[in-house]
Amino acid sequence: MILLTGGAGYIGSHTAVELIEAGYDVLIADNFYNSKPEVLDAIEKITGKRPALEEIDVCDVNKVDAMFEKYDIEAVLHFASYKAVGESVEKPLMYYRNDLDTLLTVMEAMKKHGVNNLIFSSSATVYGVPETVPLVEGMPTGCTNPYGWTKYMAEQIIQDVCYAQKDMSAVILRYFNPIGAHKSALIGEQPNGVPNNLMPYITQVASGIRPHLNVFGNDYDTPDGTGVRDYIHVVDIAKGHIAAVKYAMNHKGAEVVNLGTGNGYSVLDIVKTFERVNGVPVPYQIAPRREGDVAQCYANPDKAERLLGWKAEEDLDSMCKDAWEWEKHITK
Ligand code: UD1
Repeated sequence: MILLTGGAGYIGSHTAVELIEAGYDVLIADNFYNSKPEVLDAIEKITGKRPALEEIDVCDVNKVDAMFEKYDIEAVLHFASYKAVGESVEKPLMYYRNDLDTLLTVMEAMKKHGVNNLIFSSSATVYGVPETVPLVEGMPTGCTNPYGWTKYMAEQIIQDVCYAQKDMSAVILRYFNPIGAHKSALIGEQPNGVPNNLMPYITQVASGIRPHLNVFGNDYDTPDGTGVRDYIHVVDIAKGHIAAVKYAMNHKGAEVVNLGTGNGYSVLDIVKTFERVNGVPVPYQIAPRREGDVAQCYANPDKAERLLGWKAEEDLDSMCKDAWEWEKHITK
């Protein structure tokens, strides 16, 4: 059985679908802090199989221990964490407590129960302000906010544990910018309140929930002056986890791997592509730069292909289409 902590969330739920379709038994541990129980129904509808569920907080040592007793767990995909950058700046203790506690609790249970395979959700945010792009895994790291530091610290913790426990295997996945949704439009991203990230904001503008998009800065040193990112389809991200699980089961030690496409697109590229493929207008205004943003951030994805045999397949048109189909599904 494969355990997905935070498996009802955006990336966890897409990964659950891909795992079930690849023949794995899936167990989701989630407290639905930032997700909904109906996600399990949607996963069942897509795959024909309902994942097992433990509704627990993975900071709870006793409940996590009991879960590891109850199920025969081969690998853990650790998604459970808080993820809002701005909130992490306002509430650093909440972020450090939760995001490190969940990891430590899960890793202690893994050690106690002899579970040796861990896949961890890290982020391209650990590259801080990149000196050059595309980003290669060995490049310098450093963060600009507590959320980023929790990922940075978690990476270090995992590497130290793998050094001490020679039978341990971990793949640390540095996600670039996951967007889009499953082709069924039954699962996708459901931000609480005003979205922080670009694509959920665009879909809410397109559906009339918000009047316009604020483009945060058009004076960056990029082709059109707006920020450049490596947007990647969430289903590609999910498939990257399957490849990582297979790799972890056959290797020891820790590896850090970028999950990106290698393509950089600007904010205006995304707006234009979204309007073209979906035939809906996305009114926008140029606004001041957002604090902490960098001009450009995109991956060199070669290591993922070399090590895991994985490569992103979906293009930007498909990401924009699927994001819009999902938005229409949730607002109808
Ligand atoms: C953000 C986080 C990053 C996190 C990732 C998770 C920050 C500074 N970084 O990345 O740590 O891992 O989300 O998905 O928050 N933009 C607009 N208008 C908007 C929203 C965004 O112009 O309303 C622009 C941004 O300035 C940026 C691009 O769109 O150039 C992407 O922004 P976003 O989706 O928030 O992702 P990141 O900032 O790259």
